[in-house]
Amino acid sequence: MIKSIVAFVLLVISANAFCQKNTYQLASPDKQIGVTVSFKNDKLYYQVAYKKAGIINPSQLGIIYKNEVVNNNNIKSITTTKLTTFNETWKTVWGYNATVKNNYNQLTVNCATTKGTMAVVFRAFNEGIGFRYEVQNKVNNNDNSEYATEIMGEHTEFAIAQDGKCFWQPLMQKQMEHFENLHKTTNLAAIDSCNTPFTMKLKSGVHISIHEAALINYSSTILVNKNKGNTLSSFLAPWADGKGVAVRLKTTTFNSPWRTIQISPDAAGLINGAQMIMNLNEPCKIENTSWIKPMKFNGVWWEMHLNLRNWANTKYHGATTENVKKYIDFAADNNLQGTLVEGWNTGWESFIGKEEFSYTQPYPDFDLKYLAEYAKARGVQLMSHHETGNNIPDYEKQMVAAYSQMQTLGQNAVKSGYVGNSMIMGKNYWHQSQRMVEHIQLSTETAAKYEVSIDPHETIKPTGICRTYPNLMSGEGVRGNEYNAWSEGNPPEHEIILAFTRGLAGPMDYTPGIFDVLYKEGKRRRATGAEADKSELTTRVHTTLSKQLALYVTLYSPLQMAADLIENYEGNKAFQFIKDVPVTFDETKVLAAEIGDYYTVARRNGNDWFVGGITDENARKLTINCNFLTPGKKYKAIIYGDSKATDLYKNPSEFEIKTQEVTNKTILTWNVAKSGGVAITIFEVIPK
Ligand code: NOJ
Ligand code: CA
Repeated sequence: MIKSIVAFVLLVISANAFCQKNTYQLASPDKQIGVTVSFKNDKLYYQVAYKKAGIINPSQLGIIYKNEVVNNNNIKSITTTKLTTFNETWKTVWGYNATVKNNYNQLTVNCATTKGTMAVVFRAFNEGIGFRYEVQNKVNNNDNSEYATEIMGEHTEFAIAQDGKCFWQPLMQKQMEHFENLHKTTNLAAIDSCNTPFTMKLKSGVHISIHEAALINYSSTILVNKNKGNTLSSFLAPWADGKGVAVRLKTTTFNSPWRTIQISPDAAGLINGAQMIMNLNEPCKIENTSWIKPMKFNGVWWEMHLNLRNWANTKYHGATTENVKKYIDFAADNNLQGTLVEGWNTGWESFIGKEEFSYTQPYPDFDLKYLAEYAKARGVQLMSHHETGNNIPDYEKQMVAAYSQMQTLGQNAVKSGYVGNSMIMGKNYWHQSQRMVEHIQLSTETAAKYEVSIDPHETIKPTGICRTYPNLMSGEGVRGNEYNAWSEGNPPEHEIILAFTRGLAGPMDYTPGIFDVLYKEGKRRRATGAEADKSELTTRVHTTLSKQLALYVTLYSPLQMAADLIENYEGNKAFQFIKDVPVTFDETKVLAAEIGDYYTVARRNGNDWFVGGITDENARKLTINCNFLTPGKKYKAIIYGDSKATDLYKNPSEFEIKTQEVTNKTILTWNVAKSGGVAITIFEVIPK
C-alpha cells in the first residue's frame, strides 16, 4: 500500500496511569469519552462514560479457558499500567474517505493470572473505544489436546447504562448459517442473541454500536442477553465437535480481536466514526496495491435469481459465451469496469448436495479463455465466481490452482460463496466460527499472492481487515437485494438500518440497481429445471427505482453491481446515474439520519459530489443543504428522484430528472415517495 503517515506521535506519558485503589482511567483525545478500569473482589471491570454520563456500567472482563469452571476467575491482580498516545493519518487504497485519522490514547492494564500474564489494552478514540486481551500464558491446558490454548468463552460484558432503541440481527434459529436475517428494532430486554455490529440509540439520544475489529485466528463474538436486562455478554461461536470449545490455538501467547464500542451524539457520527474499526487493524501488508481495482460491474446473475436461467448447464444455462459477451459489451459501453459470471464452472449439478465444484474447469458452452481476452480487449474485467456450497476443505485444495489460473487469464476479482449449513468435513460449522474466520483469512492472503481481490458471500462479518489486506474488497454477510427475488424480501426500512449496523463493519456487496422493481417480466419466469415456486411470481423489490439509485451512495462498497438485466437498463435515462457514480470517494459527509427512518449522505470524488437520500415506508421531504460545496464555485446538479406520479405499490419505477445550478448556498428539497429516494450528481462547472 502506498501509505503516507502524515503525522506520527508515540509518546509514553507515564509508567503508571492515574491510580486510585486499583482504579485506572483513560480519556479520548477530546476528553469526551472516559474509560475506568478497576479490580474488585478478584474480578476485572471496565466502564465507559461519554460527556460524563455513563454509557457502559461496570462490566466484567476476562477469558474462560477449557478445564476451568465457568465462574472461575483466573485474573489475580493488576500489576502495572501504562498510558500512551498515538496519532497518524493514513491513506486508503479505496474507501469512502481518501485519508483516515487514527488518533487515540491507550491504557495497558497488565494483570497477573493463574496461567501467566494478560494485558487488557484499551484505546480511546474520539469516536469510541476498543479493547483486547493480550495473553502470555506459561501453562497450557494440561490435557492431551494438540492445542496449547483452548477457549470456551469470555467474561466480556457490555452493561449498557440506559435502555433505548436497539437495532440487532438475531441469529438463525437452528440454522447457524449466516448473517442474513432481518434486523429487529426493540428495547434491550427483547434481545436474546444477536450478531454484531449491534447498534443502539440510548434514551439520552447518544448512539452506540458494539462490534469487533481484527477478527483473526479467533471465533466471532455473538452478543447474548442472559438475564433479559441491560447487559449483553459475549458468546463465542464454538467448533463443530460439540465440546463447546470456541477458540483453539497452537500457542499459549495470543491476542484476542478488539472489542469495539462506537459512541456518537447522533446517528450521523457513526458512519465516519466506523473508521475506528479499520484503525484497530494493522496497516496494509500488500506492498504493491496497483492491481486492486475498485469497480462497478454487471453480470450473469439476476436472471438466475429470477428463475429465468440456470447456473447449471441445462438448456437454460446462463453462462454461455454468447450471453456473457452481451454483458461485457454492455459494461464496456456504459462505464462499468467488470462483468461477473456465475455458473461458468462445472459442479453446479451437485450444488446443495455434495458440492463437487471445479474452480478451473468451465462448462463446454462457456469459452473462458476467449471471454477473458474479449473482456480485456474491451477494457472490462471478467469477474470470476466460486460458489463452494461451504465445502471449504475442497475449496482450500483448489484455491491456489484457481487463483493462479485467474491471474494467468488476467482476471483480478472473484466473488466467492458459502451457501448452506457448513458441511465442512461433514460437520455443521457456524459461519461465525473460528474455522470460517481462518478460511476467509486464508482465502484473502492466498488470493493476494495471485493479485486477486475477493468478495465473499455468506462470509464472516467484516472487522476492518481490509485495511491490512485491501484485496478483501467487499463481501456479503448481509441480507442483500437477492432476497427480493425469491422471498418476502427486504422491508422499506431495511437498507437504512443496514447502513448503521452491518454497514459500519465494512463494505457490503448489496447488489443494488434493480429498475424493474415489480418484475413485470415475472410472466416470463418459468421452471428452469426445478419446479417454479409460485411465491416467486408475487415477489418484488420493496423500494422505488430512485431509491435503488440512491443505494450506490448510501451503502458503500468499492465493488458495486449494476444488478438488473441489460434490457431493463437499455434506454432508461435513470441509468446515467449508475454510469456516473464512482465507487471510491475522497470525503464523506452524512447530512441527516435517523436509523430505520431516513438517511442522506454526500460523498466527494475529486471536485464532484454524489448525494443519496433514502426513506423508509413513509413518504417525506428530504432536505439537502449544499453547504458541503466549495464556496464561490458553481456546480451543475442532476437530480434523479421520485416524481409526483411515483407510487411504491402501483408505479415504483417512475422517476423524474431535474437539472439545476447549485452553489454552497443552495438548499435542495425533494419529496420522496414511500420507500423512495433521491440520487444526485453534482459536477463542478469549470469556468471557460
Ligand atoms: C448466494 C449469493 O449471495 C448469490 O449472489 C449467488 O448468486 C448465489 N449464492 C449462488 O452462488
Ligand atoms: Ca447470500
